[in-house]
Amino acid sequence: MTETDIKKGLAGVVVDYTAVSKVNPDTNSLLYRGYPVQDLAASKSFEEVALLLWNGELPSAGELADFVALERAGRALVPNVKAAIDLLPTTCHPMDVGRTAVSVMGANHPLAEDSSPEAELAKAKDLLAAFPAIVAYDQRRRRGLGVIEPRADLDYSQNFLWMTFGEEAAPEVVDAFRISMVLYAEHSFNASTFTARVITSTLSDLHSAVTGAIGALKGPLHGGANEAVMHTFEEIGIDKAESREDAAARAKTWMEAALAAKKKVMGFGHRVYKNGDSRVPTMKAALDKMIEHYDRAEMLGLYDGLEAAMNEAKAIKPNLDYPAGPTYHLMGFDTQMFTPLFIASRITGWTAHIMEQRAANALIRPLSAYNGPEQRAL
Ligand code: SDX
Repeated sequence: MTETDIKKGLAGVVVDYTAVSKVNPDTNSLLYRGYPVQDLAASKSFEEVALLLWNGELPSAGELADFVALERAGRALVPNVKAAIDLLPTTCHPMDVGRTAVSVMGANHPLAEDSSPEAELAKAKDLLAAFPAIVAYDQRRRRGLGVIEPRADLDYSQNFLWMTFGEEAAPEVVDAFRISMVLYAEHSFNASTFTARVITSTLSDLHSAVTGAIGALKGPLHGGANEAVMHTFEEIGIDKAESREDAAARAKTWMEAALAAKKKVMGFGHRVYKNGDSRVPTMKAALDKMIEHYDRAEMLGLYDGLEAAMNEAKAIKPNLDYPAGPTYHLMGFDTQMFTPLFIASRITGWTAHIMEQRAANALIRPLSAYNGPEQRAL
């Protein structure tokens, strides 16, 4: 084994096939089971996209109706999950709450140790239906507020916002939220998905694989970046009432200092996309609608200013987290809740990959090059 054989971070290493999605940096495109993600975001519900990722095909009207009924019936926070959340201090990170709640759901599930395709799909659907209540309750308890029960007359996105804020969100807010759920759902062998596949490859259970994936997603180099983007905006000062030019100038000053300090600026760059993240235009359009809806034009000064300053300095493009963070901020989600929102969506991609790994499994166990002391006597 020579130094050149080692691919740190598995950068550029193809380790297996997947039919779930295709990320193509050359064409800057992303396909979910062959469909361009921007086409799905323009016209499909998150429920339809979930079924597409799991089953490989868009659902028939009957298949969708059956899943919608199941999802709506599975939304309520079950007592021992709520009790487990209540044992956790409100000072802990909400990703720890999500990780714990999924573990309890695994302990609860009657099919937890059943890895048949039918059982895996049933568990995936249960997780998707139940997770919004966990995020909504955790945000509310941190504000000293109680549970808001789900409503079966609302779709997934409408109900998620209802349980979090206790009011029916405007249609344009619901649509921006739906778009974010579709865009965050799947992205081939990213760190958290690959974590789920590694855990599945040992023939461990689905909830263990999702719990591990949540741990990977928490990191700011991965899912935690959408929260970190908001911290950047807050650090620069997002609520100053000023002209877009003044905001852009402050953003440029901040970026220059960050890059001079060799900081990684959250929301920019990507291991696979090198000319921009295929999902950004669609998410940015949704952010623009939210900026108009909430009359926050000054935010564009910061947003555009940071992007221009990074482009000028290092030509590194934004990734999905960059427009997603401010969008969730405008909707009223606490910054720490942004990555749990990512979990709610990526449960679909993770579980689609778990099922794919299990269907054609090989234990994932790479090699290492030893660079410790040679054999020696005691
Ligand atoms: C997600 O993989 C996926 O598909 C993930 C994801 C998904 O949907 O699952 O798309 C979601 O995780 C998006 C990425 C969110 N993370 C961030 O926004 C964190 C900030 N980004 C960087 O940490 C970085 O861009 C990574 C980690 C995302 C990717 O980095 P790489 O491919 O490992 O490359 P690198 O860190 O070695 O950087 C190469 C060069 C370096 O410069 P030099 O040291 O060689 O001079 O580019 C620079 C880096 O310093 N660079 C950055 C930068 N990203 C790269 N410099 C400043 N800020 C950045 N954000």
